[in-house]
Amino acid sequence: MSLLHTASTSEITLRVNGEEHHLTVDNRSTLLDTLREQLRLTGAKKGCDHGQCGACTVLVDGERVNSCLTLTVTAEGRDVVSIEGVAGLAGGAAAGTETAETAAGTADGLHPVQRAFLTHDGLQCGYCTPGQICSAIGALGEAARGWPSRVTQDLVAGVTGTTGLTPDEVRERMSGNLCRCGAHPGIVAAVLEAAGADPGEHGPAAPAGSAVPSGRSPR
Ligand code: FES
Ligand code: FES
Repeated sequence: MSLLHTASTSEITLRVNGEEHHLTVDNRSTLLDTLREQLRLTGAKKGCDHGQCGACTVLVDGERVNSCLTLTVTAEGRDVVSIEGVAGLAGGAAAGTETAETAAGTADGLHPVQRAFLTHDGLQCGYCTPGQICSAIGALGEAARGWPSRVTQDLVAGVTGTTGLTPDEVRERMSGNLCRCGAHPGIVAAVLEAAGADPGEHGPAAPAGSAVPSGRSPR
């Protein structure tokens, strides 16, 4: 048996936002770099490049991952969704939390989580926003499946869907995503609203004309 590897690249088919791409990638390439540099999908952001800030979060088979820590070759054959594709997710906010609105998508073409970020002013500069939104969609999916978090009272029972999520649950589940602007109160309120829970007093309403968190800027 030999441990000698001679090929440094791989030919892969990557499915991103429902579209297949045939790529030659360096075996060491991260999914984040492939998305940004080869596919020109610059929504996922490079913050720390060390798995510490969450700015690069995308969904792989419906679960959130730090794309800066994910080798591109490991994503072959899986469904990758970046911020550019979240509006097209079937079923809306997260599997198991469909409402009439989420099943049909919102009238403005945004994912309900994107809409909630606008409503609750969950962004300032927007750099962390694509990762926050992908992470929120993933977190709501986890809650819909009953997965507990570190602050869940009964770890065995887990949680019963998303509508009972508390601010503490949302803060804990979103704790891997940092916002250098300090928009966390609005982010928590947005996730609570998207969960179908009470957003309470968390976060002010967005002023009219706020920018849409599409993930297209800043680069
Ligand atoms: S850029 Fe991936 S976690 Fe910070
Ligand atoms: S809105 Fe600026 S980093 Fe979060």
